[in-house]
Amino acid sequence: MPTIMKKQPLTLLGGLTAEQFLAEYWQKKPLLVRGALPGFTGLLARDEMLDLACREDVESRFVSQAGGWTIAHGPFSRAALRRKAKPWTALVQGLNMLLPQADEMMRRFSFIPYARLDDLMVSYATDGGGVGPHFDSYDVFLLQGMGKRRWRIGNQMDQTLIEGLPIRILKDFRPVHDWVLEPGDLLYLPPEWAHDGIAVGECMTYSVGFRAAPTQDLAEQFLTFLQDRVNLPDRYRDPDLELQKHPASIGAPMIDQVADMLNRVRWNRDTVRDFLGSYLTEPKSHVFFDPPAKPLGEGRFAAAAARRGIRLDARSQLLFADDSFYINGESVVVARRDRALIRQLADQRALPAQKLGDVAVALLHDWYRCGFIHLP
Ligand code: SIN
Ligand code: CO
Repeated sequence: MPTIMKKQPLTLLGGLTAEQFLAEYWQKKPLLVRGALPGFTGLLARDEMLDLACREDVESRFVSQAGGWTIAHGPFSRAALRRKAKPWTALVQGLNMLLPQADEMMRRFSFIPYARLDDLMVSYATDGGGVGPHFDSYDVFLLQGMGKRRWRIGNQMDQTLIEGLPIRILKDFRPVHDWVLEPGDLLYLPPEWAHDGIAVGECMTYSVGFRAAPTQDLAEQFLTFLQDRVNLPDRYRDPDLELQKHPASIGAPMIDQVADMLNRVRWNRDTVRDFLGSYLTEPKSHVFFDPPAKPLGEGRFAAAAARRGIRLDARSQLLFADDSFYINGESVVVARRDRALIRQLADQRALPAQKLGDVAVALLHDWYRCGFIHLP
């Protein structure tokens, strides 16, 4: 994974530096880059991708516009896919978790923090196929793999959708740009930009998607997180209870006292940091790790790491905030002298061969036994 230099012009961004891209385009306006990845024709063949859409552990969708828009969720059988009337498109999420080259490609976009990165999706469409004109709530980089796709995009205010359809299709799509992307071309779209990508001949498109949490979701998840962390030992008491006129009435003193009790639920920036660390690294519901069947003991693991280095599993999420570290939904304590090393592992997603200190070995061996990291 390349480390991105502040002032380095990037072919991926059409010669812009990452800083220029952030200042001028990110969340502001689209960017079309011809030849962003010169020579790129894709990460996998059509049949390999359709095989993924048939796997139980892979999230896939199938959208058809033959005889009206329909959507189906995988896994599919190859026979069922062959029978579909054209045009159609199949979409596979989380390619980065299935293919090391896909993770590597997604990490080329690491000028955006991993905390914002969601996944790499791949789509295959027959001639004329697509998911129709729509808008998304997330930023996306659309990278053309095999074949060509015509993209029409617009920044219309009118987001009315056609009612009664199983997928989100804009009622009145008004594109302002019309481009045909060829292999290696890239289109960045900010959230809410309307777009419609139609395959010109059969084609495959890779989308690097981002996440931007809705406030409501953050609030709900934060309250759940907080629930396990409140510790308010005493209880309601009323030694001064006065006779009430209505026994069924909830008395004002009771409401006041409970309001005071609940006001003692407190959190601070550290609580929010720990919440974010676990929220952002929490594996998606269908993600499971594969611990090694015959794990090496700590000594042999350390010797192997010294010879071969280690790498994070493509499904592992390792993030940090200052001296606090989070892996796959859990907060972990990292000894002061190992923090630079674990930050390097988080940024680069791998560590080169090196002799590790005892404390680092104990931590990494634990992660290795969970299937969070591997010996390459
Ligand atoms: C695609 O079909 O590959 C992209 C879907 C989209 O427009 O979001
Ligand atoms: Co879209």
